[in-house]
Amino acid sequence: MKHAIYPGSFDPLTLGHLDVIERAAQMFDTLTVSVLHNKAKSPLFSTEERVKILQEATAHLPNVQVDSFSGLVIDYCRDKGVHVVIRGLRAITDFEYELQMAQTNSKLSHGEVDTVFLTTSLEYAYLSSSGVKEIAYFGGDISQCVPEFLVQRIYDKFKERK
Ligand code: PNS
Repeated sequence: MKHAIYPGSFDPLTLGHLDVIERAAQMFDTLTVSVLHNKAKSPLFSTEERVKILQEATAHLPNVQVDSFSGLVIDYCRDKGVHVVIRGLRAITDFEYELQMAQTNSKLSHGEVDTVFLTTSLEYAYLSSSGVKEIAYFGGDISQCVPEFLVQRIYDKFKERK
């Protein structure tokens, strides 16, 4: 059975992430989308909130499961018995960081974990979670950037913070 893991911060989930999830879900029997629980960061949405958001956004994809992890992604892969990590590539600017991460994961796992890159669909190539947060912070329109059900929740988060 082909099982892949798509790890990320997803803070917040964007339509670009969702595009990668939908396409990866067609390539693998099971896709686990996993939210990095990073204690050092102060995210907009908590890990639990991000897991719930992803579950809501992927409810139409029966072979997608949502989880969270902390620590190294290769340890998480080993625990799950998974050998493939999915990552999206938007532009050449992503490439250096992503290549380094893929090679680090390959080296650390002694070749057990490979990374499969999906190039982001052109319509979402400009999207980033940090861009969405900046637009929302200044009250701009994020309706083309994130799933519809998430738009107001993001504005509300910034209202709570102000
Ligand atoms: O959505 P992001 O923030 O680009 O995702 C980055 C993520 C979570 C994939 C990456 O930071 C990660 O895998 N972190 C876990 C720690 C780890 O395994 N580091 C080694 C790879 S350099």
